[in-house]
Amino acid sequence: MSTKQMHIDPYERNWMIFSAILLVLFATAVSVAAFGMGIQVPAPETRVDPRTVAVDPNSPWSNPGLREIEPGKYDAYILAHAIPNWEYLPKEITVPAGSSVSFYVTSGDVQHGFKIQDTNANFMVIPGQVSKLTVKFDEPGTYNFICTEYCGSGHAIMYGAVIVTP
Ligand code: CUA
Repeated sequence: MSTKQMHIDPYERNWMIFSAILLVLFATAVSVAAFGMGIQVPAPETRVDPRTVAVDPNSPWSNPGLREIEPGKYDAYILAHAIPNWEYLPKEITVPAGSSVSFYVTSGDVQHGFKIQDTNANFMVIPGQVSKLTVKFDEPGTYNFICTEYCGSGHAIMYGAVIVTP
Protein backbone atom coordinates (compact mmCIF):
# COMPACT_ATOMS: atom_id res chain seq x y z
CA MET A 1 0.00 0.00 0.00
CA SER A 2 1.49 3.34 -1.00
CA THR A 3 1.41 6.41 1.22
CA LYS A 4 -0.92 8.03 -1.30
CA GLN A 5 -3.60 5.37 -0.69
CA MET A 6 -3.23 5.83 3.11
CA HIS A 7 -3.77 9.61 2.78
CA ILE A 8 -0.85 10.55 4.98
CA ASP A 9 -0.33 14.26 5.04
CA PRO A 10 3.18 15.20 3.83
CA TYR A 11 3.87 17.07 7.09
CA GLU A 12 2.87 14.03 9.09
CA ARG A 13 5.00 11.76 6.91
CA ASN A 14 8.01 14.02 7.34
CA TRP A 15 7.59 14.01 11.11
CA MET A 16 7.29 10.20 11.08
CA ILE A 17 10.54 9.94 9.11
CA PHE A 18 12.22 12.48 11.42
CA SER A 19 11.06 10.53 14.52
CA ALA A 20 12.35 7.26 13.06
CA ILE A 21 15.75 8.86 12.34
CA LEU A 22 15.85 10.20 15.93
CA LEU A 23 15.17 6.72 17.33
CA VAL A 24 18.05 5.28 15.26
CA LEU A 25 20.34 8.13 16.40
CA PHE A 26 19.48 7.59 20.09
CA ALA A 27 19.91 3.82 19.83
CA THR A 28 23.31 4.38 18.19
CA ALA A 29 24.36 6.90 20.86
CA VAL A 30 23.37 4.54 23.70
CA SER A 31 25.15 1.60 22.03
CA VAL A 32 28.36 3.58 21.45
CA ALA A 33 28.31 4.83 25.07
CA ALA A 34 27.68 1.34 26.51
CA PHE A 35 29.91 -0.82 24.31
CA GLY A 36 32.40 1.64 22.81
CA MET A 37 33.04 3.93 25.80
CA GLY A 38 32.30 1.48 28.61
CA ILE A 39 29.72 3.72 30.31
CA GLN A 40 27.71 1.37 32.50
CA VAL A 41 24.42 2.01 34.22
CA PRO A 42 24.73 0.79 37.80
CA ALA A 43 22.23 -2.00 38.36
CA PRO A 44 21.36 -3.73 41.64
CA GLU A 45 23.81 -6.64 41.75
CA THR A 46 22.06 -8.65 44.41
CA ARG A 47 19.88 -8.28 47.50
CA VAL A 48 20.89 -8.49 51.13
CA ASP A 49 19.18 -8.09 54.47
CA PRO A 50 20.19 -4.62 55.73
CA ARG A 51 19.52 -5.69 59.36
CA THR A 52 22.18 -8.42 59.26
CA VAL A 53 24.49 -7.39 56.41
CA ALA A 54 27.09 -5.90 58.78
CA VAL A 55 27.08 -8.75 61.32
CA ASP A 56 26.29 -11.98 59.44
CA PRO A 57 29.63 -13.87 59.24
CA ASN A 58 28.65 -15.09 55.75
CA SER A 59 28.23 -11.50 54.56
CA PRO A 60 31.34 -9.93 52.95
CA TRP A 61 30.27 -6.62 54.58
CA SER A 62 30.79 -8.09 58.07
CA ASN A 63 34.48 -7.74 57.15
CA PRO A 64 34.40 -4.94 54.56
CA GLY A 65 37.45 -4.07 52.51
CA LEU A 66 39.54 -4.99 49.54
CA ARG A 67 39.99 -8.50 48.12
CA GLU A 68 42.55 -9.20 45.40
CA ILE A 69 40.87 -11.50 42.86
CA GLU A 70 43.87 -11.75 40.54
CA PRO A 71 46.88 -9.47 39.95
CA GLY A 72 45.51 -5.99 39.21
CA LYS A 73 41.90 -6.97 39.82
CA TYR A 74 40.14 -6.25 43.09
CA ASP A 75 36.72 -6.47 44.67
CA ALA A 76 35.98 -3.74 47.21
CA TYR A 77 33.18 -4.44 49.69
CA ILE A 78 32.09 -1.14 51.17
CA LEU A 79 29.46 -0.62 53.83
CA ALA A 80 27.77 2.75 54.14
CA HIS A 81 26.00 3.56 57.37
CA ALA A 82 24.64 6.38 59.50
CA ILE A 83 24.47 4.43 62.76
CA PRO A 84 26.49 4.71 64.97
CA ASN A 85 28.43 7.19 62.80
CA TRP A 86 28.08 8.52 59.29
CA GLU A 87 30.87 6.76 57.47
CA TYR A 88 32.01 4.25 54.91
CA LEU A 89 33.74 1.07 56.02
CA PRO A 90 36.53 1.01 55.12
CA LYS A 91 37.13 4.72 54.82
CA GLU A 92 40.17 4.24 52.61
CA ILE A 93 41.43 1.63 50.16
CA THR A 94 44.80 1.54 48.42
CA VAL A 95 45.53 -0.06 45.05
CA PRO A 96 48.42 0.21 42.58
CA ALA A 97 47.94 2.23 39.37
CA GLY A 98 46.42 0.23 36.52
CA SER A 99 44.12 -1.67 38.89
CA SER A 100 40.56 -2.51 38.07
CA VAL A 101 38.33 -2.32 41.15
CA SER A 102 34.77 -3.64 41.34
CA PHE A 103 32.91 -1.79 44.08
CA TYR A 104 30.13 -3.64 45.91
CA VAL A 105 28.44 -1.07 48.08
CA THR A 106 25.46 -1.49 50.36
CA SER A 107 23.90 0.28 53.31
CA GLY A 108 23.24 -0.97 56.81
CA ASP A 109 20.49 1.56 57.48
CA VAL A 110 19.26 4.44 55.32
CA GLN A 111 19.79 5.43 51.71
CA HIS A 112 23.22 6.81 50.87
CA GLY A 113 25.12 7.74 47.71
CA PHE A 114 28.57 6.88 46.39
CA LYS A 115 30.46 9.11 44.01
CA ILE A 116 34.15 8.74 43.26
CA GLN A 117 35.91 11.93 42.15
CA ASP A 118 37.29 11.98 38.56
CA THR A 119 35.59 8.72 37.58
CA ASN A 120 32.18 7.84 36.14
CA ALA A 121 31.25 6.04 39.40
CA ASN A 122 28.20 7.73 40.91
CA PHE A 123 25.34 5.67 42.24
CA MET A 124 22.75 5.32 44.96
CA VAL A 125 23.32 2.98 47.88
CA ILE A 126 20.00 1.52 48.90
CA PRO A 127 19.44 -0.60 52.01
CA GLY A 128 18.77 -4.18 50.93
CA GLN A 129 20.45 -3.79 47.56
CA VAL A 130 24.06 -4.09 46.46
CA SER A 131 25.27 -1.50 43.95
CA LYS A 132 28.17 -2.65 41.79
CA LEU A 133 30.40 -0.73 39.42
CA THR A 134 33.88 -1.45 38.09
CA VAL A 135 36.41 1.37 37.80
CA LYS A 136 39.90 1.21 36.29
CA PHE A 137 42.42 3.49 38.00
CA ASP A 138 45.24 4.30 35.59
CA GLU A 139 46.56 7.52 37.10
CA PRO A 140 48.15 7.54 40.57
CA GLY A 141 46.53 9.91 43.04
CA THR A 142 43.83 10.29 45.66
CA TYR A 143 40.28 9.75 44.45
CA ASN A 144 37.91 10.95 47.13
CA PHE A 145 34.48 9.44 47.37
CA ILE A 146 31.50 11.15 48.95
CA CYS A 147 27.90 10.50 49.87
CA THR A 148 25.58 12.12 47.35
CA GLU A 149 22.20 11.39 48.96
CA TYR A 150 21.12 13.38 51.98
CA CYS A 151 21.18 10.83 54.81
CA GLY A 152 20.91 12.88 57.99
CA SER A 153 22.85 15.42 60.03
CA GLY A 154 26.20 13.71 59.39
CA HIS A 155 25.77 13.55 55.61
CA ALA A 156 28.44 16.17 54.94
CA ILE A 157 31.13 14.26 56.85
CA MET A 158 30.50 11.05 54.95
CA TYR A 159 33.49 10.54 52.69
CA GLY A 160 36.49 8.36 52.01
CA ALA A 161 39.22 7.83 49.44
CA VAL A 162 40.73 5.43 46.96
CA ILE A 163 44.51 5.89 47.05
CA VAL A 164 46.17 4.85 43.81
CA THR A 165 49.91 4.33 44.22
CA PRO A 166 52.40 4.48 41.31
CU1 CUA B 1 25.30 9.06 53.58
CU2 CUA B 1 24.61 11.22 52.82
